[in-house]
Amino acid sequence: MAGERSKLTTNHFYNHQIILCYFLIISQVSIASSNTSNVGVNWGIMASHQLPPEKVVKMLMDNSFTKLKLFEADQNILDALIGSDIEVMIGIPNRFLKEMAQDTSVAASWVEENVTAYSYNGGVNIKYIAVGNEPFLQTYNGTYVEFTLPALINIQRALEEADLKNVKVTVPFNADIYFSPEANPVPSAGDFRPELRDATIEIINFLYSHDSPFTVNIYPFLSLYGNAYFPLDFAFFDGTNKSLRDGNLVYTNVFDANLDTLICAMERYSFLGMKIIVGEVGWPTDGDKNAFQPC
Ligand SMILES: *[C@@H]1O[C@H](CO)[C@@H](O)[C@H](O)[C@H]1NC(C)=O
Ligand SMILES: *[C@@H]1O[C@H](CO)[C@@H](O)[C@H](O)[C@H]1NC(C)=O
Ligand SMILES: *[C@@H]1O[C@H](CO)[C@@H](O)[C@H](O)[C@H]1NC(C)=O
Repeated sequence: MAGERSKLTTNHFYNHQIILCYFLIISQVSIASSNTSNVGVNWGIMASHQLPPEKVVKMLMDNSFTKLKLFEADQNILDALIGSDIEVMIGIPNRFLKEMAQDTSVAASWVEENVTAYSYNGGVNIKYIAVGNEPFLQTYNGTYVEFTLPALINIQRALEEADLKNVKVTVPFNADIYFSPEANPVPSAGDFRPELRDATIEIINFLYSHDSPFTVNIYPFLSLYGNAYFPLDFAFFDGTNKSLRDGNLVYTNVFDANLDTLICAMERYSFLGMKIIVGEVGWPTDGDKNAFQPC
């Protein structure tokens, strides 16, 4: 239960229509919680009917969103963000990792064209560069494992050389890099997947030593969809009759259990107080099992 072993990536690339639903849903939630500043939005562009970037930026601002994650440095979107003050995480797609790992000048020109060019007073508030997107995902068969850390190092160096010291690097991982053993499926038994343990720890070590955050994508609905016996109410936040006891702690939803599994895995290797960003979390909209109704 605790270690989500999700295998789907395509779900992450929401089109604009779905994202707009998220805007509304999230803004209602955040009004209630009175903590709007920590909720952000992913803006994917794999959509057949894209909204004009200026309109999306205006909608973000109208709904008090202050954080945004992009899957790549789309020039039209970055242009639309100029002057907005929204904190942006820009992703580098996996297909660039090999070249960036092997050639520092590729990393340097990516930073120059996609970060430096926008990082002036009144430009775009770029806070993070996400190097790769779930590059260790099981379904990629290890394709990107050897390139991720070198690419991360080269981007960090390029940022330093461009004097962009406030821009932090990170790598968004899928929650499938950690797990709890079936014999003891509780968060406190969390660990990194054995075949990727060394590579993952090396990356965390690099991030930790640069005061950079770890980013994880957690999808409770994939736990639910992946297991016919998964308790439906444990996937939501409204309380459950199927709570998970772990020592003195009682978990009433898989999101908390999943996140604590990661924190316990990190503590196992002495990464204490690591900054963690939840890069993506979401729920399907209309038409899917247990979907939200469309807005
Ligand atoms: C900037 O990012 C875009 C989008 O990912 C990419 O196509 C382009 O090659 C990048 N620029 C450089 C110089 O790498
Ligand atoms: C992953 O590796 C296995 C075994 O080598 C192979 O059968 C499979 O086609 C590979 N999948 C991808 C997506 O490359
Ligand atoms: C817990 O079980 C009771 C009795 O079956 C039921 O009425 C209630 O809705 C359940 N609570 C949740 C959160 O599912």
